[in-house]
Amino acid sequence: MPITIFGGCSTLVVVKEGEYAIRDPSLAPKGRDMIEWARDHMPVLEAIRERFEEERPLEGITVGMTLHLEAKTAVLVETLMAGGAEVAITGCNPLSTKDEVAAALVREGVHVYAWRGETEKEYYQNIDRVLSHEPDIIVDDGADCIARVHTEFPDLTERVIGATEETTTGVNRLHAMHREGILKFPVIAVNNAKTKYLMDNRYGTGQSALDGLMRATNILLAGKTVVVVGYGWCGRGIARRARGLGANVIVVEVDPIKAMEAIFDGFRVAPMDRAAEEGDIFITATGNRDVIRGEHIEKMKDGVILANAGHFDVEIDKEYLEEHCEEKIDRRGGLVTEYRMPNGKRVYLIAEGRLVNLAAGEGHPIEIMDISFALQALSVEVLAKEGEGMEPGVYKVPKDVDKRVAELKLKSMGVELEELTPEQREYMESWEEGT
Ligand code: NAI
Repeated sequence: MPITIFGGCSTLVVVKEGEYAIRDPSLAPKGRDMIEWARDHMPVLEAIRERFEEERPLEGITVGMTLHLEAKTAVLVETLMAGGAEVAITGCNPLSTKDEVAAALVREGVHVYAWRGETEKEYYQNIDRVLSHEPDIIVDDGADCIARVHTEFPDLTERVIGATEETTTGVNRLHAMHREGILKFPVIAVNNAKTKYLMDNRYGTGQSALDGLMRATNILLAGKTVVVVGYGWCGRGIARRARGLGANVIVVEVDPIKAMEAIFDGFRVAPMDRAAEEGDIFITATGNRDVIRGEHIEKMKDGVILANAGHFDVEIDKEYLEEHCEEKIDRRGGLVTEYRMPNGKRVYLIAEGRLVNLAAGEGHPIEIMDISFALQALSVEVLAKEGEGMEPGVYKVPKDVDKRVAELKLKSMGVELEELTPEQREYMESWEEGT
């Protein structure tokens, strides 16, 4: 029987140790409806799922997952299960879990350990609960789970065949682990596949970060000055979409090449110091820490809105706001925190500075995650088949997998491609004069 516990938890949670720990199992029907809606819009995963059901490439494999626990992720979970895997999962961010989806997955026999609003301690406790299932393969987003296996469960690193990593920040951390000789198993950097960062980071974050911002605030973007910090794949998408909605966009960058690209794309580029004075809305997407600091906040306008789309909640200096405000007020059902500064200025922080698209919205559009999670499913299959022979390190998604995902996506959209003639192929591969 499940035990309902209060003690030490941020919220009322139903726990069955070794099985699940979620907010409320009775939310399952609503979660099922959310999952089915997502599934109906994920034809690429559906095609993989049909093949997995026949071939069962993950038979006998336990997959431990740390991903934003919401409807699209549930479709990936069910795809892996169709391939024969047993799955234990937790969230990769305390505010992105959809409790309804967690409940629906528990009903399917998935080991789910996650609830929205878990504390930092509970977040790590839930990762440990996933690891207690001794996964053969880890699917991570941000590399917290992979890092934790190495620091807290070193014996388990022997058992893990390999892992996949979903996001830029996670891949950066894994490269650092490998450089220091710490990484003990192969990890496929799903983030670095072309069908991932060109679509997910750019178009997914572009649309969903603004969607989260608008849901949280209900403000108009047209005519506002939006400062986008970081002009990487995510920042490019956010800047373009903000401009499309009529905002004047200023880009803040540290990399001269990215800054030049932003200028040629038609954006203004300025240092944070200067942008701080002009911006109405700030969205960070750097994967770096403290990009908006106290000295910048001091220069900002009354009523300024701060949001973050980077993986961790370290891009905006929340501690400064906490320490220097005179009053802190929850607005918009807790999605916005209003900080009243001593000079009377109001600073609005969205979703505690956590990923605005997931904490204040529903994350990336479904079709985007269809592509990203197809890469995940196929990368897990690669590890199941070939992982034992792979040395520890950070690996690219195999090119044929990247291409196959694009082909499946285009097929689902009914898009046909031109084909090279044999003469064209030969011409393209030849070094001889081009006459
Ligand atoms: P990227 O590496 O392509 O871009 C980051 C950019 O930030 C670079 O151009 C870099 O020069 C710039 N930058 C670094 N420090 C800076 C500073 N102090 N000031 C101004 N610019 C600075 O990375 P990508 O793929 O755009 O990802 C960015 C972050 O977003 C990562 O944390 C990633 O994990 C996360 N992410 C979030 C998603 C979401 O759903 N919200 C989806 C995908 C990635």
